[in-house]
Amino acid sequence: MLELLLNGEGETLALASALADAFAPGDLIGLEGGLGAGKTTFARGAIHALGVPATTAVTSPTFALVHQYEGRFPIAHADFYRLNEGAELEELGIDELLEEGCVLFVEWGRKFPSVASRASLWVELEIVSDEARRVRLHPQGERGEELIAGLSARL
Ligand SMILES: Nc1ncnc2c1ncn2[C@@H]1O[C@H](COP(=O)(O)OP(=O)(O)OP(=O)(O)O)[C@@H](O)[C@H]1O
Ligand SMILES: [Mg+2]
Repeated sequence: MLELLLNGEGETLALASALADAFAPGDLIGLEGGLGAGKTTFARGAIHALGVPATTAVTSPTFALVHQYEGRFPIAHADFYRLNEGAELEELGIDELLEEGCVLFVEWGRKFPSVASRASLWVELEIVSDEARRVRLHPQGERGEELIAGLSARL
């Protein structure tokens, strides 16, 4: 586990961007933390770093559930806040997105075992003050360790 303090949105975007350098097709990144903690902000930083033009807005997929982008790889950004635990994730095509080579960001995914088991990295954000967030990076499996290896050198 790696813990950092992020002073301002810019630092969250920079961390996301540094991590994104290591992301590759099939990676599932879980974003956790309460309302307004910065999950979508983190996803925005990573998605732009993955080659989606800065002019393309990255917004919350709360209502659409999944937004898709084309960067260096296909990218999907999901938000399952509105889904209850019994929801049929198969219908959302999460496995297909990963098999198609998407990098997948999922907010509120921990409550779904099929998402949780496939995550390589959990990014857990916590509100400290108006502008400050604490982030804990929890790698899962070998791939997770790869994703955070050498991160401090990239920051
Ligand atoms: N250090 C910071 N990192 C990220 N966001 C910050 C930071 N400081 C302030 N903010 C603000 O906090 C808000 C975070 O909103 P964001 O939509 O990213 O949260 P979220 O975790 O996705 O919320 P939700 O649960 O509603 O999806 C933004 O308005 C952002 O500008
Ligand atoms: Mg969000």
